[in-house]
Amino acid sequence: AALAPGLAMAQNYPSKPVTMIVPFAAGGPTDVVARSLAESMRKTLGQTIVVENVAGAGGTIGTARVAKAQNDGYTLLLMHIGFSTAPALYRKLSYDAANDFAPVGLTVDVPMTMIARDNFPANNFAEFLAYVKANNAKLSMANAGIGSASHLCGLIFTSTIGTELQTIPYKGTAPAMNDILGKQVDFMCDQTTNTTGQIKANKVKAYAVTSKARVPSLPDLPTMDESGLKGFEVGIWHGLWAPKGTPQPVVDKVQAALKAGLADPAFKNRMTELGAIVLADQASPAALDKHVKSETAKWGAIIKKAGVYAD
Ligand code: MLT
Repeated sequence: AALAPGLAMAQNYPSKPVTMIVPFAAGGPTDVVARSLAESMRKTLGQTIVVENVAGAGGTIGTARVAKAQNDGYTLLLMHIGFSTAPALYRKLSYDAANDFAPVGLTVDVPMTMIARDNFPANNFAEFLAYVKANNAKLSMANAGIGSASHLCGLIFTSTIGTELQTIPYKGTAPAMNDILGKQVDFMCDQTTNTTGQIKANKVKAYAVTSKARVPSLPDLPTMDESGLKGFEVGIWHGLWAPKGTPQPVVDKVQAALKAGLADPAFKNRMTELGAIVLADQASPAALDKHVKSETAKWGAIIKKAGVYAD
């Protein structure tokens, strides 16, 4: 008897290249994770995974694109903590984070670094903090839009130090980094997957990392906690999703490729170089679903308390 269409399609999956949507500009931290993971997953999936950057509105435009895509397994979403913060920040989201997606698994967790243009008049975190507090009216902090990781870190930073700051939104922190290097904007909180190279090349000033422990690949950078902002901890986890209703055999194949991709030495070495932690034991729908739920509750409460909305 002929197989049910879904089952037949699932059995031949993937019979053509798969698209992985990255909701931020090319070259940024989310893109770096996606392109490296896509290459490693290809080896198991047996098809090219094409990374497509759909930027804007802090990652919610690209996320919405996947929510509305065919649930045939040929459109995937690589997104981070913004998946959990957007529902609190955007009162009119064009997708339902809790019901429009099929989680595949967690991928990596990335620490953030507070960095500034290379002529910023501060040579350690204490001087940076003092200067920002004294000159906040004439300083600008970059981020990748409301809902981005850089926005979230900036929000926690300004509310922790009790200082308002002008923020400049970009379509990703790759373009933001260009303006830091060009001294068009003063500083930003960005992921080590984007800042490690610039820090090691002394192209920017770096003051602290936002992880609980120091980052092995940036051993001289103190943590925010060590620097006096007790308990300041922001880790940017990234997940992989498919649209809701993607057939289970297809999700299973994508998950198998994800697990193999995370175990690929090429991927692991690249992530270690860039300060990212591979979450190999959490590459499952249940682990991602559980983490999204707890993160959505945690950040939702913090964001509501801060009274911040994007719309
Ligand atoms: C962010 O949320 O800040 C993004 O990760 C920036 C990016 O990937 O370009």
